[in-house]
Amino acid sequence: MKKLADLIQVRLAKLDALHRRRRLRPVDPDSGIDLTHNDYMGLREDPGFQARARAAAAPWPTGSGASRLLGGEHPIYAEVEEAFAAWKGAASSLFFTSGYAANEALMSALHLGDAVYFSDEWNHASLIDGMRLARLKPEQKQIFRHNDLGHLESLLQKSTAQLKLVVVESLYSMDGDLCPARELSALAQRYEAVLIVDEAHALGVYGPEGEGWMAAQGVDHSHYISVNPCGKAMAGSGAFICGPAWLRDHLINTARSFVFTTGASPWLAAALQESIRTMKGLTSEREAFAARVERLHRHIEALGFNKGGSVSHIIPIILGPESAALAAENFCAERGVLARAIRPPTVPEGSGRLRLSLHAGLSDADEERIKEVLTELAQRIIA
Ligand SMILES: Cc1ncc(COP(=O)(O)O)c(C=O)c1O
Repeated sequence: MKKLADLIQVRLAKLDALHRRRRLRPVDPDSGIDLTHNDYMGLREDPGFQARARAAAAPWPTGSGASRLLGGEHPIYAEVEEAFAAWKGAASSLFFTSGYAANEALMSALHLGDAVYFSDEWNHASLIDGMRLARLKPEQKQIFRHNDLGHLESLLQKSTAQLKLVVVESLYSMDGDLCPARELSALAQRYEAVLIVDEAHALGVYGPEGEGWMAAQGVDHSHYISVNPCGKAMAGSGAFICGPAWLRDHLINTARSFVFTTGASPWLAAALQESIRTMKGLTSEREAFAARVERLHRHIEALGFNKGGSVSHIIPIILGPESAALAAENFCAERGVLARAIRPPTVPEGSGRLRLSLHAGLSDADEERIKEVLTELAQRIIA
């Protein structure tokens, strides 16, 4: 143990020296207006939803007891998978214990034949790790410039692979920009490529019933496969992969993070059914939230901040040096607005930022306070 402890202490000291040591900070509901979490529709704070979700979970056991293939297949999984697929307009869905596990599973399970993956350069770590797990040859993984369809098309054109997989997110979580859904779908169809979309940050917020960004853009689910993590607007955890029934069968048979893991808690599956039901009815809340997001965008623009390509409820205020991002986090926290500094290696060097993660639980008074604090921050930075 001593040798291990010494080696680890050296590592941690290096992170300390770079001011990059991560620490867990307990949630404190009284510490201010919280713009650090991803509960975009505010369901964790909604007493009605919380009561309904608890009631839905009550009849089920806390744990599944086993892998779903070995005695842990509670009927609630099939029920929630059907409800989720119907909501998304997909033929079927399969429930995983997390978005991370779902992305790993999907990326590695689709390495068939001479498959080539065309991956947006800003894709989430779980998609990247899934591709690593797939043990692709270098030529099987082609990275295209973020949201650059011209670049993607040039790569697709050159490829002679039988199976082409285009992998993107719908809403990019560090920059708050959206993928060009319709154009991507058309491009993928033109090159007979399979489009895979991670909807983690768009689920619940976009779409007529909160189904996500692809649905909001009118792309039929028969044209893509979606990964839908439920730890954000759905106020739970776990994730559904939606697509054709044969994909579900294939994943059940090959996805290691499905086969070799205990089924997610049946409580959670039942609570997520309540999340789906609730999401469908949040039309006016989504509209009001979109209007609030729009107002905050206009305010931040007027202050002269660089918010990159953000058009959504995730707004980065890009400040450059890590020290500036950290100073901005402290400045806002001291004034009761909690937002996280995001620094390399999560974002590229020199693009440290304060990331505002807006949510539908904000009140008008919260909005005013956020505007005041950002105005003060702008004055401080300019001064
Ligand atoms: C785009 C994206 N995909 C997948 C995940 C992983 O999902 P989970 O938190 O359920 O593991 C995250 C982050 O949590 C994410 O931001």
